[in-house]
Amino acid sequence: MNGQRKTLNSAELRYNGHTIQFPVFEGSMGEKTMDIRALRKETGILTYDPGLINTGICTSDLTYVDGEKGVLLHRGYSIEDLAANCRFLEVAYLLIFGKLPNPVEQKSFSELMNLHSMIHEDMQHFFRNYPEKAHPMAVLSAMVVSLSSFYPELDRESATERIDNTVTRLLSKIRTIAAFSYKKSVGEPFVYPSYKLRYCANFLNMMFSSPVRDYTVDPVVERALNLFLVLHADHEQNCSTTVVRTVGSSGANLYASITAGICALWGPLHGGANQAVIEMLEEVLSQGMSVRDVIESAKRKESKIRLMGFGHRVYKTYDPRAKIAKEACKNLLEHLGHPDDPLLELAMALEEAALKDPYFQEKHLYPNVDYYTGIAYRAMGIPTNMFTLLFAMGRLPGWIAQWLENSRDGEQKLMRPRQVYTGEVANRVLPIGERA
Ligand code: ACO
Repeated sequence: MNGQRKTLNSAELRYNGHTIQFPVFEGSMGEKTMDIRALRKETGILTYDPGLINTGICTSDLTYVDGEKGVLLHRGYSIEDLAANCRFLEVAYLLIFGKLPNPVEQKSFSELMNLHSMIHEDMQHFFRNYPEKAHPMAVLSAMVVSLSSFYPELDRESATERIDNTVTRLLSKIRTIAAFSYKKSVGEPFVYPSYKLRYCANFLNMMFSSPVRDYTVDPVVERALNLFLVLHADHEQNCSTTVVRTVGSSGANLYASITAGICALWGPLHGGANQAVIEMLEEVLSQGMSVRDVIESAKRKESKIRLMGFGHRVYKTYDPRAKIAKEACKNLLEHLGHPDDPLLELAMALEEAALKDPYFQEKHLYPNVDYYTGIAYRAMGIPTNMFTLLFAMGRLPGWIAQWLENSRDGEQKLMRPRQVYTGEVANRVLPIGERA
């Protein structure tokens, strides 16, 4: 059990002539929750909740989202405050270790990050054997799970290794793996991490410097990347995080659990949406579709087209991360000399049209974090198929913190939901020759 929990009056359920009481409690922001763990034992009935729309799977001290008001807090700090005043690694430290680092903690965290930034030389062979068109998310997931064989010391949170070593190893190596997978895809030699560069500058340098090309990290691009990673750092029980907790609940190690989260993130309804947004915008431009055409086809159910980067399970108002990302994207493009980038103009025109349209208004569909980030990444020179990988880099501290919280929470159990069986009830095996 985590943090502050207040017990309230219990709730009553009447079923089949019996009245059963269930405890109700609230968390530190007043969200009322009915504890239904005893329901099946007491009544024989299950709850049915596809997509876990109304099910809290844990208590957590990490992140608070108010989807109606558009509020996002990490350990009590607003996303606006963190985005304006913290680097990505400070937010990572906050999520994982529970506080913003002081100068001494920050220095030792940076030193550890530097120490762990290289990947084992033998891992380079893996990259060489991927086809050049391999999706970076496939490479990333395989590489992260492979870390468990190169660094097997962490068998859950054991005495054999300090947790901050494993945590920094993952945080630091993920950007090296990401940059190496890019270099492999363009057929250029790998660029090693440098002890002289900070987290985001190091990543940009590994991506874009080459023996035949001078590359100096643009501090504005570095700041923008820092900000985008901060915006992705955690988002309570989203699809990939729930997967990380689920895999971790079986006793699987951190690397295996994070790998599962990376795979869950890949889908276009989740983190893959940042890639899908750009593909959608490019297609609209290349086909010469009008803004109205796009909006109308996104509204037609039979078209199976959605306005990618719009809508969210929890936010029923403007995603606060999207607000920050939109401004940062506009500023970055201005700095890079593309203030009238056609994709940005199209994205803003689609947003304006959607927000005025009764379909989007009634369903409370607003831009989410993925809507503007891809445009900014594209302007930085990052290829479209790497956008979701950048989401994974940003979300990593959240996954780690959630995995740790889950494994330390005495109330957590092996994740094992139920189902309602609706299949055949009394079949009998026929000899093969008699089967239809
Ligand atoms: N464009 C058009 N219609 C939409 C959109 C959209 N982007 N999103 C939802 N709707 C409609 C649905 O068709 C549905 O209509 P109905 O009530 O007539 O059936 C209604 O809005 C509710 O949608 P659901 O899919 O039931 O809502 P849910 O909470 O399950 O989905 C989701 C949220 C998956 C994010 C959805 O809004 C979507 O597909 N968006 C586009 C993909 C995207 O941007 N994903 C990134 C989300 S943020 C993240 O994961 C980091």
